Amino acid sequence: MIAIAAVDNNWAIGNEGKLLANIPADMKYFREVTTGNVIVMGRKTLDSFPGGRALPNRVNIVLTRDRSFQRKNVVVAHDFEELDELLAQYDPDRVFCVGGASVYEQLLPKCDKAYITRIDYEYAADAYFPNLDQKPEWVKTEESEEQTYFDICFEFTTYERK
Ligand SMILES: NC(=O)c1ccc[n+]([C@@H]2O[C@H](COP(=O)([O-])OP(=O)(O)OC[C@H]3O[C@@H](n4cnc5c(N)ncnc54)[C@H](OP(=O)(O)O)[C@@H]3O)[C@@H](O)[C@H]2O)c1
Repeated sequence: MIAIAAVDNNWAIGNEGKLLANIPADMKYFREVTTGNVIVMGRKTLDSFPGGRALPNRVNIVLTRDRSFQRKNVVVAHDFEELDELLAQYDPDRVFCVGGASVYEQLLPKCDKAYITRIDYEYAADAYFPNLDQKPEWVKTEESEEQTYFDICFEFTTYERK
């Protein structure tokens, strides 16, 4: 499994149920990397998408403990056992953990790569990705040129499990 996230200088990823920034180039990168593949997310992240709808052209797997939860074009997993059963049919390199904080935290042990967009700013936040720079088992292996969107500077990085 591969994690994909956009983080600020404090590894923050969200505030009050929303993303910290909407950067078109980052949205495009996310779309290109995940389209045609499988995305795994928490129920709150699904709710943060426009209209709470599944993202098109991807298998959307949503973790929720709510046994009555159903949504169009969403495959539901109620725990990690169910998730593992669902994921058994896919190549792990095609499965992307797309958040949010609780799901990144719980699924990071199953990830061996992370595509991290680093945004050079410190936002007010209440949701975080685990700080990979502080984890000795993770190493940054790729870093793009710095890019800008108005006054926001960001870069695309890849981390891999050693
Ligand atoms: N910057 C980024 O790249 C990025 C990416 C994604 C999300 N985000 C942000 O992250 C924030 C949301 O993160 P979050 O931690 O609050 O929510 P979340 O991880 O998206 O969803 C949490 C929900 O997932 C379900 N869940 C979690 N672990 C489970 C398990 N082991 N078994 C079954 N269900 C489980 C539960 O749903 P039920 O309550 O229905 O049981 C739980 O309430 C938002 O601000 C969002 O914008 C940022």
